Amino acid sequence: MNKRPQLVLPMVVYPDVVGLLTMDHRKVQALFAEIQAKRGRIRVHEKFELVRKVCAELLIHFAVEEGIFYPAVREAIEDVRLMDEAEDEHESAKSIIIMLGSIPPDDPMFDAKVRALAEQIEHHIQDEEAVMFPKVLVSELDLVAVGRELLAAKNEMRARLGLAIEEIADEHFPEEDMYLSSSHARNAASRMRHI
Ligand SMILES: [Fe+2]
Ligand SMILES: [Fe+2]
Repeated sequence: MNKRPQLVLPMVVYPDVVGLLTMDHRKVQALFAEIQAKRGRIRVHEKFELVRKVCAELLIHFAVEEGIFYPAVREAIEDVRLMDEAEDEHESAKSIIIMLGSIPPDDPMFDAKVRALAEQIEHHIQDEEAVMFPKVLVSELDLVAVGRELLAAKNEMRARLGLAIEEIADEHFPEEDMYLSSSHARNAASRMRHI
């Protein structure tokens, strides 16, 4: 008997928002570590590509945190000072990224600004993971729902920037087998700030 061909669609499974953001942190830390490890032994254009990549990842990460995660956390944990500080840290990192755009990558100042950015981001990651995330984990926030919204928005932005779509699988959420809904992504993206 002939079996009818079945359309097999990719499955996107959503982990929680804290897991997603922590994965982003590890990704940018790894990129900064690669830049540091290759320092002095790398062609200028290759270094520039790595820096461009880490800056793109950071800008997407900041945008989804500011557009989706932080507003939800502000309501859930009611710690205005902590959240204001986190947004200030984003602003200072963004100002370094803007400066990087106007410095030639073979100028020693370029490397100095990359190091300053790496240090600033490391400090910010520590603040989020050691202070903010523990508060979020014991709050009422629906971590999976916010994670789903955040991933959809990230993918929309990645698509616009020509970056690969992230397909995240997490064995803790096997029942969450939903496809990326373009209307959901559009709704989430329309609430994002421009990066
Ligand atoms: Fe973060
Ligand atoms: Fe952040």
